[in-house]
Amino acid sequence: MKKLILSLSIVFLFIQCKENSTEKTPNNKNLGFLADSAMVVSAREEASKIGAIIMQNGGNAFDAMIATDLALTVVYPFAGNIGGGGFMVYRTNDGKTGALDYREKAPLAASKDMYLDENGNIIEGKSTLGAMAVGVPGTIDGLFKVHEKFGTIPFSELIQPAIDLANKGVVVTKKQAERLNKYRHFFTEVNNHQIVLDEEWKEGDTIKYPNLAKTFERIKTQGRDGFYKGETAEILVNYVQKLGGIITKEDLENYKSQWRNPIVFTYKSLKIISMSPPSSGGICNAQIFKAIESYDIASLGHNSVEAIQLITEAERRAYADRSYYLGDPDFVKIPIDTLISSDYVQERMKDFSWDKATLSSSISHGNIVGYESDETTHYSIVDSYGNAVSVTTTLNGAYGSKVYVSEGGFFLNNEMDDFSSKPGEPNMFGLIGAEANSIQPEKRMLSSMTPTIVEKNNKLFMTVGSPGGSTIITSVMQTILNVYEFDLGMQEAVDAPRFHHQWLPDVVTFEPKGFDSILVQKLQKKGYKINQENSRILGKVDAILVLPNGKLEGGADYRGDDKAVGF
Ligand code: DON
Repeated sequence: MKKLILSLSIVFLFIQCKENSTEKTPNNKNLGFLADSAMVVSAREEASKIGAIIMQNGGNAFDAMIATDLALTVVYPFAGNIGGGGFMVYRTNDGKTGALDYREKAPLAASKDMYLDENGNIIEGKSTLGAMAVGVPGTIDGLFKVHEKFGTIPFSELIQPAIDLANKGVVVTKKQAERLNKYRHFFTEVNNHQIVLDEEWKEGDTIKYPNLAKTFERIKTQGRDGFYKGETAEILVNYVQKLGGIITKEDLENYKSQWRNPIVFTYKSLKIISMSPPSSGGICNAQIFKAIESYDIASLGHNSVEAIQLITEAERRAYADRSYYLGDPDFVKIPIDTLISSDYVQERMKDFSWDKATLSSSISHGNIVGYESDETTHYSIVDSYGNAVSVTTTLNGAYGSKVYVSEGGFFLNNEMDDFSSKPGEPNMFGLIGAEANSIQPEKRMLSSMTPTIVEKNNKLFMTVGSPGGSTIITSVMQTILNVYEFDLGMQEAVDAPRFHHQWLPDVVTFEPKGFDSILVQKLQKKGYKINQENSRILGKVDAILVLPNGKLEGGADYRGDDKAVGF
């Protein structure tokens, strides 16, 4: 592999970042950004460019993943992270697929009732805000695992653009300024000193991260140990403990990411490869797709009453199973084959009626016998060799626990809230959990992150994923359907308004202004409870579609500052 000479300012000139193309989709609508052979779509243009440059210099999608991920830590501290974790699903150019789980783990000192008071009630905020909310980070270990298996460019060269960016500084966008100013008071509340981000920001300001650059330098010279041992570990553990947290050096030293078998299933002529437990994404989506597979969805119409009904009922049943059966596969036995089998799912849909909503109160998890017992970010990458990578990574909430390790220059996650603190009590996404997702030392909390790759006729078709907590699963599913069933282009499919149901609460959430009042009334008449007024955006999808002519179309979600870059 030729040596990478990263002169960013020069190479930037060659990277195409033009606005959307003038070509048309099959239904004669405008296409999104097009590239001939390689593309990165991520939450920020700077990160997408860094990944694209790596590929332009001969690197593959995995090299680009590492560089993009590290760059997101700098440009998108809202969710980009070295203090959190994530999942990667990949498909190499010879059709091999796999998945990496670098999800955070509960610290060794964690216990089942750690978020309950003496009366057994949940202590509000303890699993979401501050040092007790933090899970043991997995990102750096994950990136080194990827590098070991697939990397073709030295890690030191992949981390360099992030170091340069952290030293040079990041220009604040309008949306970023709004978010930072909105969450600022939490930074003051949680940390025992004023952190670098705790200021009133406006568009065009520049933020520099010299301490993050130093952490990256330690990782560059010491590898994985530059984060999990030595100075960075010392800084991290001291600060967390000072704020009352329980993470120890042993926790950091012990952390290991895991290769997993992805969940693979078919939907009509598609083969869908998605994340396996400890994510619920692959299983839930397999159930939803299997539940609707026997219908001619295209003829029902995009976002029509009937399509929404059918999908909602499939979602309702899938999320009920999620809540009962799913957790960390290293700790609980999950009947995956049954859960995603057509027979089981069809049986669950037997009481579906076109006339009337099923009540969630009448639905529980399916009965399977005979088995032992706001924030995340997604990016999609395709390289010119034909490899595809789909990564979703998170701190959980916006800026995670809000604990900012100033000496190291990074936020820590609040992923512990993804556990079920108490059976039947909702977490910050309203998700209900059970024993399968209870807290245990070194266990991974259940996730909804759904990095996904889709094949059509045995060829790469799409790479897709999203942030959005519990709404990730349904956002990914609708994006795939929008392209495959409703003939939308990639950008259109990403931009189309979305809806969501998750069993409990028994409400269909619609994106604001996305759905007309007549449609809403028709659904209400059938007994669907609708939330449109207080709703929020659902997901923020970044995806790449391989067009019939072999070109790549990016779908960069307009809901954020997301950008497709390629060549
Ligand atoms: O793993 C999960 O399911 C959550 N921690 C994801 C959080 C998330 O997507 C927040 N973004 N809106």
